[in-house]
Amino acid sequence: MARPIDVEVQKHGEESIQREVFGTRVGFILAAVGSAVGLGNMWRFPYRVSEGGGAAFVLLYIAMTLVVGIPLMLCEFSVGRRSRLSPIGALKKEGGRRWALLGALGVLTGLLILSYYSVIAGWVVRYALAGIVAGFPAAPGEYFNTITTGIAPILYHLAFMVVVITIVMSGVEKGIERASLVMMPALFLIVGGLAIWAATLAGSGEGYAYYLTPSLGELLNPATIAEAGGQAFFSLSLGMGAMLTFASYLSRDENLNREAVTIASSDFGVAFVAGLVVFPVIAALGLTSQVSASTVGALFIALPGAFVEMGAAGRVVGILFFAALAVGALTSAVSLLEVVTASIIDEFDATRRSAAVGAGVVITLVGLVPALSLDALGLMDATTEWFLTLGAFFMAIFVGWRMRDPSAEMLRGATGFFASIVPAVMFFIRWLMPPIVGFVVFYAGRNLWNTVATTFGL
Ligand code: PHE
Repeated sequence: MARPIDVEVQKHGEESIQREVFGTRVGFILAAVGSAVGLGNMWRFPYRVSEGGGAAFVLLYIAMTLVVGIPLMLCEFSVGRRSRLSPIGALKKEGGRRWALLGALGVLTGLLILSYYSVIAGWVVRYALAGIVAGFPAAPGEYFNTITTGIAPILYHLAFMVVVITIVMSGVEKGIERASLVMMPALFLIVGGLAIWAATLAGSGEGYAYYLTPSLGELLNPATIAEAGGQAFFSLSLGMGAMLTFASYLSRDENLNREAVTIASSDFGVAFVAGLVVFPVIAALGLTSQVSASTVGALFIALPGAFVEMGAAGRVVGILFFAALAVGALTSAVSLLEVVTASIIDEFDATRRSAAVGAGVVITLVGLVPALSLDALGLMDATTEWFLTLGAFFMAIFVGWRMRDPSAEMLRGATGFFASIVPAVMFFIRWLMPPIVGFVVFYAGRNLWNTVATTFGL
């Protein structure tokens, strides 16, 4: 496909700058899928499923992805493509000064998420290397303690951030797009292959049963419903402007509605298939109860424990699992840093290089806190989840009530079915999203409060 001509953007009314663009449609989709697919799918999703009573959570999660996830992604796409700016500038341009605050909340959220996300990604890399070098550790609980305390997590966090910064520094097309084009298909292949292998395990049936048979009680539990919503925002990279920023690099009239559906389905697909790996594996080893007593680390202890029990095959499978997880984490981390970097470029006319390095260094320093304390990491996860739900809430209000003629932007490039649903989607965004997302905000806030209370023993 021919490379489209870079588009000139008027900035601040005076000087014009060249805005980078994605080279191909597939490049944009894979970069967005790369942002969505990450630790959220292969680590957070299975552990949320364990917390939320198994299959019931899976169903609620599907519902939330359809009901609030896809419309919200469309909202972010519309704001980004119309304004051709990152969150702060985009919201200021389309909504006035006060809305810039929502953009700033997004940038802060991105900064905070990446600072602990990179720490977890560091553990993942460490596991993959351990598997390659010496095999998975025989005492997984103790091993988890060693890799999450002291200097080790800091070094891995640092190394991971260096790679993330390098990719973002190389630009949208040469860095982000190129990396996603290679890494995402590799990840799909590995995760799919692992699920097929997991089906051959003796004792896996119990895992499938847990994962796939819903209990009615949980389906009606408001806290579980709300958690499914929060997880959907996290997993789809919504509520902080990552999808908005990526859409600002679109130069053509893509069918945004169709792309939102494609991206959300791919994200759910990977999460679901990751569950088809994790649950049979831990059930085959009788470890299901360990994971549901869940803390951030549970899966990081149970899985390597299972891999070590399975001998040579477990070693190969484990290495592939952690490698795929590391790849997913990398493309997601790239999108997180891109939001902060693009905002610095747009707001301060900085060069990409200095913006990426500057933002990266600050995030790396903030990340020292969760690298040194698991409690801090848990708190940051709960805090940013609340921020994401808040961001999602105000984004729906913005597009529903403030943005000038959002349907026009949603219709640009849309055809057939995807064009015909726009009026219904707009009605939904105005009237139904605020109460539904408001409910999710409330429970995420309550959950944050509970996390604060247990952490500080209140
Ligand atoms: N969606 C990513 C994941 O599931 C995390 C993420 C959240 C990335 C928010 C960007 C923005 O791992």
